[in-house]
Amino acid sequence: MADDSPAATNSHADTSGDLSRPWLELAPDYERARTREDSLDRLVEWPVQRELLGDVTGRSVLDAGCGNGGKLAELVRDGATDSVGVDISGNFLSAPPPGLELIRGDLSELDSLPGLTGRRFDRILFLQSFGYAKDPVRTLQAARAMLADDGFILLTRTQPIRYAVERSEENGTSLGEEYFSTASFSYLSGWNDQITLTKRPYTISDLLNVFSAAGLWIETALEPQLSEDARRRYPHKQAWMNKYLGILVFKLRPLQSR
Ligand SMILES: C[S@@+](CC[C@H](N)C(=O)[O-])C[C@H]1O[C@@H](n2cnc3c(N)ncnc32)[C@H](O)[C@@H]1O
Repeated sequence: MADDSPAATNSHADTSGDLSRPWLELAPDYERARTREDSLDRLVEWPVQRELLGDVTGRSVLDAGCGNGGKLAELVRDGATDSVGVDISGNFLSAPPPGLELIRGDLSELDSLPGLTGRRFDRILFLQSFGYAKDPVRTLQAARAMLADDGFILLTRTQPIRYAVERSEENGTSLGEEYFSTASFSYLSGWNDQITLTKRPYTISDLLNVFSAAGLWIETALEPQLSEDARRRYPHKQAWMNKYLGILVFKLRPLQSR
């Protein structure tokens, strides 16, 4: 939820360098927060993600960093078939619908996960999970190679400006200093205030260059906002969006020349 790729650590410094490991602890807190009536995932993120996916009838979907698999289960109930969710946490729905398989695994290893060998997908999702890719270009190349004809990748990430705003306020620095800083930074998770999140910084150019290097072009880019109704009902969320902007959403297709 407007907060991807944190490396959560148990209030202690993460000396492992493994940004994903903390999700073994954080996953249930995230899912609890996501289902709140006023969560930004529910109000902004999932609606735009769902809209860009369109009619999924008969489409196979791979959700990389799928959380508990709830979004994918909804797609399968809407007609998606032969779909797979991969998540490092293993904190999955206890009874996924037929046509949905949930695999504990690393999205950095899509090309070597046994459950994915030889598979092709019409849609591949990285919803607030792409920041965990150890090698972002390689991960997108692997996803690109798994796309069926006419397939696309849907990728969302937190606006990096959000982190620059937070850090500039905290450090008494300027927005630009923080936006262009290359130093990792930490903050307390909004999903569990016992957990400190650490992030690698990125700029919008970084993201666009990763897409290019992986042989993808951007068919659509969106910066979704609250609906008028949600603004009225949840002014505290509008205040948050006014300050931190929200997420970036990209629909990516393979360049045919590569
Ligand atoms: C912010 S949550 C987003 C979950 C879901 N995609 C959604 O949109 O609600 C990030 C997810 O990425 C997963 N994750 C983190 N590192 C991962 C990795 N290396 N491989 C697979 N999943 C990972 C976490 O366990 C968590 O479920």
